[in-house]
Amino acid sequence: MRFDKFGLCNTENMLKSAMNHGFAVPAFNAYNMETIQAILSAARLTHSPLIIAISESALKYMGDDILMGIISGAKINPHEQIALHLDHGHSIESCMHAIDIGFSSVMLDFSNRDIDENIDATHNIVRYAHARGASVESELGQLTGFEDENTSNTESVYTDPDTAAKFVSQTGTDSLAIAIGTSHGAYKRHSADETLRFDILSEIQEKIPNTPLVLHGASSIPNYLVDKINKFGGDIKNAMGIDIEQLNFTATHTNICKINIDSDLRLAMTAAVRQDLYKNPQNFNPRKYMDAGRDAIRDACIFLIREVFNSANKI
Ligand code: G3H
Ligand code: 13P
Ligand code: ZN
Repeated sequence: MRFDKFGLCNTENMLKSAMNHGFAVPAFNAYNMETIQAILSAARLTHSPLIIAISESALKYMGDDILMGIISGAKINPHEQIALHLDHGHSIESCMHAIDIGFSSVMLDFSNRDIDENIDATHNIVRYAHARGASVESELGQLTGFEDENTSNTESVYTDPDTAAKFVSQTGTDSLAIAIGTSHGAYKRHSADETLRFDILSEIQEKIPNTPLVLHGASSIPNYLVDKINKFGGDIKNAMGIDIEQLNFTATHTNICKINIDSDLRLAMTAAVRQDLYKNPQNFNPRKYMDAGRDAIRDACIFLIREVFNSANKI
């Protein structure tokens, strides 16, 4: 079924608006009813355009029908500017499938393939998606860290600005994810001195000034959440995320128009659930701690929308 039947939008207008009005659209990863409810209520409470990001493994975990049933039940209105996006699609088939079941945007991640293979495949999925009104994100360069349960990179390869220009003109991609020093997961930096490569970002912007850029692996891994997890029985050591001021600068002063956050929300939910279980040792009703987890994700999203991405009231 086409995405507009679910009240969803593609990402074209929201990314264009982000480019022109000094904000970034949040892309928050979801994987069950509670995470979708939390993310949607954050969007609704702040009047922010928003992208619900579903990885291939999250889609497998939920199943197509359950996911689309939840989306349908959420009664999304096109005026809310909500997109449903396949995050890190690793094959043309999985991107096509997502579009066919109602996704309004897909990412074809062939960043670890040969450039010509990436160009060919992206060009194909762009044609398929555009014929159905959906948007396409692609990626050049490689991030370190885990992208899903099966893939990991150990070395970061920054995006080359000249290759980016060639890639965009030959594929017609709607947006481009770039590697400028972020990485997936909770271990992004070894020391607080490591900064994003704004020099590379500037060069990319000069070469492709009209292409909305995307930042993956952008969680800030707040210390207070890691501490809370550890206080209530967890064991997470040496975690460090992206500096929040650099993230805010990126969202408001550059062509980065979409910022992906997963790990911060995982931490928020885990911390809240651990605390709730610890404080209520006799409770065995999952609704109680899931409710605490859901509220924590909603609040983490609201904080990012208001204080970091500047996307509140940008519908
Ligand atoms: O960038 C990838 C996301 O963090 C998704 O992770 O495959 O475990 O859902 P996942
Ligand atoms: P984090 O692990 O930094 O949250 O990255 C999320 C992401 O890029 C999803 O595509
Ligand atoms: Zn990612």
